[in-house]
Amino acid sequence: MTKQEFYLTTPIYYVNDKPHIGHAYTTLACDVLARFHRLDGKNVFFLTGTDEHGQKVQKSAQAAGKEPQEFTNQLSQNFRRLAEEMNYSHDDFIRTTESRHIKATQDLWTKIRDNGHIYLGSYSGWYAVRDEAFYGEKELSINDKGQKVAPSGAEVEWVEEPSYFFDLSKWQEPLLDLYDKNPNFIGPKSRKNEVVSFVRGGLNDLSVSRTSFKWGIPVPGDPDHIMYVWLDALNNYQTGVGYPETEQGAYKSFWPADLHMVGKDILRFHAVYWPAFLMAAGLSPPKRIFAHGWLLNRGEKMSKSLGNVVTAADLTENYGLDAVRYYLLREVPFGQDGYISHESMVGRINGDLANDLGNLVQRVLSMVNKNCDSKIPIPGELTEEDITLLKASEELHLLVRAEFDEQAFNKGLELIWKIIGNANRYIDKQAPWVLRKSDQLRMQTVLFVLIEVIRKVSILIQPIMPDSASNILDQIASPIDERQFSNLNDKFSVNPGTNLPNPYPVFPRYVEEESQNGNT
Ligand code: ME8
Ligand code: MG
Repeated sequence: MTKQEFYLTTPIYYVNDKPHIGHAYTTLACDVLARFHRLDGKNVFFLTGTDEHGQKVQKSAQAAGKEPQEFTNQLSQNFRRLAEEMNYSHDDFIRTTESRHIKATQDLWTKIRDNGHIYLGSYSGWYAVRDEAFYGEKELSINDKGQKVAPSGAEVEWVEEPSYFFDLSKWQEPLLDLYDKNPNFIGPKSRKNEVVSFVRGGLNDLSVSRTSFKWGIPVPGDPDHIMYVWLDALNNYQTGVGYPETEQGAYKSFWPADLHMVGKDILRFHAVYWPAFLMAAGLSPPKRIFAHGWLLNRGEKMSKSLGNVVTAADLTENYGLDAVRYYLLREVPFGQDGYISHESMVGRINGDLANDLGNLVQRVLSMVNKNCDSKIPIPGELTEEDITLLKASEELHLLVRAEFDEQAFNKGLELIWKIIGNANRYIDKQAPWVLRKSDQLRMQTVLFVLIEVIRKVSILIQPIMPDSASNILDQIASPIDERQFSNLNDKFSVNPGTNLPNPYPVFPRYVEEESQNGNT
């Protein structure tokens, strides 16, 4: 029996960064999946939040002349605001400075320690504050400014201090076994191979506490140490569902998580360290981790230093929220790196949205408005062509679900737009505007079929474009409580004879202003 609960998470973002479209992208993908599974009748828990401890945040707070707690209280709000701007449907927003999380993480530490997997030693080696990661000498290189840097480009510094270690070296076999027995544990496939070969190469024990600064969760029994920020951060996924209460409540229903969605920069932490920590504590590892690629602006990863950061508001204010939500998941094959640009955005808005879907709805509804007394027409007998189109739109749900289950959003959307294309060809061929004079009953049948196809398509696009989909469904008088995926195959739940409101366009064309200088 498949589990009726679905638990998915975003990374928790470092508070010190201003949220940009890269952060918005990861959470958007999760929001679409959360909405999709809810419409599919599942009990969904969708968690996002902010990562607030560690040296990087402490340094940024100092630079801003603020106490770290006050600093994070303020900056965390930026991510809450982003969530509102983007219409995310998360069930909780977690902050790692909350007491529930401090308690949960001290509990996790204690379990790992009591199971004999943590020992005291001292660390001397390289550390990159920007990545909050330790690196071996062999991983480093010298950049064009002569600085020693990690593969990510982050500068490293030499660290020597007393530290607790986690015996990661002992987890090579159990991890390889986990990947082997759970072929879907890491997606996409190409990334899985990277992780497997990294683990095959052998693992070093991991430093999991710091003593040279204070901004973190104190180690139980040894408060001179604070926990390594990644151990702290990863555990948010358990805190969010009520850990350390494991025997009842949310944890019992939702853990292990069905999906941790991350960018490819942080896959190693999620696919190697995190399952090892959990197994060492005697807890279940998550079911799947999906690492997507970079959104690139003018060919480069967005970064403050390159000055090419685009915020979600930059895009939504210019193009509209739902268009941006659609564009981001349609334009770039999810998992790969991809470019965003003004030109491709306008292409999608005017092509896929205004022409393909918008015009279809508009043409059908204005014909119904003028020729069917603003009522859903009563159909006559269905022809083979009617049945073929209806059948294709009926099969869509399972096909789209199969793609979304693999996080292949672009492919799922392509399938939906294929049916929209079929519907447009059908209306051109049937030409109800001609039938209006020659065969009223046939015209009604054609319009009825099209309304039913529009209903099915609109129900399916709700996760991507919630507001636009609901505007269309309102215009065909689809009852609010009949918009679940289980209603897709209700035979013609649009009721002939129902009065329809006056139609209005849902997807406006994007018109270039004369002074527009191609900014995205
Ligand atoms: O790493 N394109 O937080 P972070 C696509 N706190 N996605 C992007 C992106 C881009 N150009 N830029 C950022 C951390 N992202 C840790 C996580 S989780 C327990 C702790 C997204 O603020 C992408 O999801 O640096 C990436 O993995 C994440 O932001 C990094 O966010
Ligand atoms: Mg980062």
